[in-house]
Amino acid sequence: MEQREVLPLESDGNGQRLVDQVCREEKTRQALTEKLGLQQLIGKSPAFTAEINKIPILAKSDISVLISGETGTGKEMVARAIHYLSERADKPFVPVNCGAIPVELLENELFGHDRGAFTGASGSRSGVIQEAEKGTLFLDEVDSLPLLAQVKLLRFLQDKEYRPLGCTKAIKGDVRIIAASNADLENAIAAGTLRRDLYYRLNVIPIALPPLRHRAGDIILLAHHFLNQKAARLNSPAVDFSPEAERKLMLYHWPGNVRELEHVIERVVVLCTQKTIQEDQIKFSGEINQLDQLSFQEMKANVISQFETNYIQNLLVAYRGNITRAAQAANKERRTFWQLIRKHKIDVQQFKVTEFQ
Ligand SMILES: Nc1ncnc2c1ncn2[C@@H]1O[C@H](COP(=O)(O)OP(=O)(O)O)[C@@H](O)[C@H]1O
Ligand SMILES: [Mg+2]
Repeated sequence: MEQREVLPLESDGNGQRLVDQVCREEKTRQALTEKLGLQQLIGKSPAFTAEINKIPILAKSDISVLISGETGTGKEMVARAIHYLSERADKPFVPVNCGAIPVELLENELFGHDRGAFTGASGSRSGVIQEAEKGTLFLDEVDSLPLLAQVKLLRFLQDKEYRPLGCTKAIKGDVRIIAASNADLENAIAAGTLRRDLYYRLNVIPIALPPLRHRAGDIILLAHHFLNQKAARLNSPAVDFSPEAERKLMLYHWPGNVRELEHVIERVVVLCTQKTIQEDQIKFSGEINQLDQLSFQEMKANVISQFETNYIQNLLVAYRGNITRAAQAANKERRTFWQLIRKHKIDVQQFKVTEFQ
């Protein structure tokens, strides 16, 4: 894993405890690497690591987690990482995409049913909550749950009990819930499609994964990671990108985020017959790519915005969130620097948390 481990602060003067802790973390790290194979969470940009650094802490607790982020930003990977670093690691991780199951079947899918619960239910069938017993249930697109199922889920989160359809007795379940969504959940609440109480119950410690276009520094890092991975798997000679190819990757806006990047690189690697990948070999999804679609002005604004964000974040890392010193280093007025921070919605606080940086 890319992130630095957070070691317990109380370890001073108690060497053995620290050693035990490190051994334990080493073992879980091995388990994680084995389970996830080559799929490690790659990324060094502050916007990403600030979120990823929460994983070891969340893995030690058993509370529900809500992961938000656009499609392809790594929500499911993060959920798996939390599970495989947790005490539940050797029990099942069960992913369910609530958006992909017809609404009328969802409740049955989650909670199961008893004999004769509805016409055609000749036997009883367990739901995914039971499948995930002692493990983790990953509910993707949680805002697609019908309201009734939301009530049942909330009750389960509160009492650890649920009732399969047609069953009069409540059943106990020991399952950790990790939910995810790519929607704006405040909007979903306002629209009445997501219950506020469920949202608050899930959202104790949120993880908000940034879109790839806000992690400009990570694009090339990820591109090389996928290049190595795919080239080894496909026995391809490709080992590098030309500077122009890298530039093209950097300037694209990646609406499908890391998943899209992975597919783009895979497509290039399959077709590549030389060592260095050239600019014209890189094709983005869709017929026309964004570079051709945007006007010069729009493109320029994009590049400047990316540059400013990166530049400010790097300074904030270097000066641990000290605005005055960061502004001095940039040779800017403090007030102007603040305006830039606000313009790019940069959270200064995250750079001040010293034990995470
Ligand atoms: N930080 C990352 N490092 C390496 N691979 C990543 C990273 N984030 C996402 N991926 C890859 O991108 C793809 C999409 O990730 P996924 O977790 O399914 O996203 P989401 O659930 O947000 O749609 C997966 O193949 C995953 O392996
Ligand atoms: Mg997903």
